[in-house]
Amino acid sequence: MIKISPSILGADFADLKSEVQKTELANADSIHFDIMDRHFVPNLTFGPLLLKAVRKYTKLPFSVHLMVENPDLYIDECIKNGADLITVHQETCHHLHRTLSAIREKGAKAGVAVNPSTPLSFFKYVADVTDEILIMTVNPGFSGQKLIKSCIGKIEDAKQQIVELGVKTEINVDGGVNEETIESVIKAGADTVVMASAFYGSPNSKELVSKIKGIVIK
Ligand code: DX5
Ligand code: ZN
Repeated sequence: MIKISPSILGADFADLKSEVQKTELANADSIHFDIMDRHFVPNLTFGPLLLKAVRKYTKLPFSVHLMVENPDLYIDECIKNGADLITVHQETCHHLHRTLSAIREKGAKAGVAVNPSTPLSFFKYVADVTDEILIMTVNPGFSGQKLIKSCIGKIEDAKQQIVELGVKTEINVDGGVNEETIESVIKAGADTVVMASAFYGSPNSKELVSKIKGIVIK
């Protein structure tokens, strides 16, 4: 069954305590935190301190998506503040295998994200230390963008590589996932979908989650 990771970027920042509780009550599987530095992406959001602030209000795992230059500088603080999975961008790591290994050694799961224009040819060289590959289906930086259709083929490519390599890496899909696009994303091989605007903009997020989890692909 597909897992859903709502991105807090779509939540009401004046009421994060209730938003986090609402996310758990809606039966989501984890919460996605988009940390942006206005260098790697043209937007600035929040830092690891936010994880600490809301950690006490939910038992859901925290998945941190680092859209920053020098992601190595953020890892310790994110783990200390409650991150369960840390995803770094392939484009920001000079020593990707080293960074992913370090995340695991420090006690979190390790993820690698790829921009829409980044090929997947590197993956086989880091698959042994990658718990999750995050396929960006929009250019990172903002929620509420439209899914780029060519990225659906990339989800399929990732799935094929994972099967061929015989690894347990899961596929996370991030950007423009909503009721219209979800079927193609699941069909292509996603294990988890991130949703900011579709989840927090929904009048009934619990119903949305159960509807999405009930999708059967033929
Ligand atoms: C984009 C972020 C996404 C974003 C998704 O850079 O990584 O996680 O919040 O937003 P939606 O679901 O609205 O496309
Ligand atoms: Zn994200």
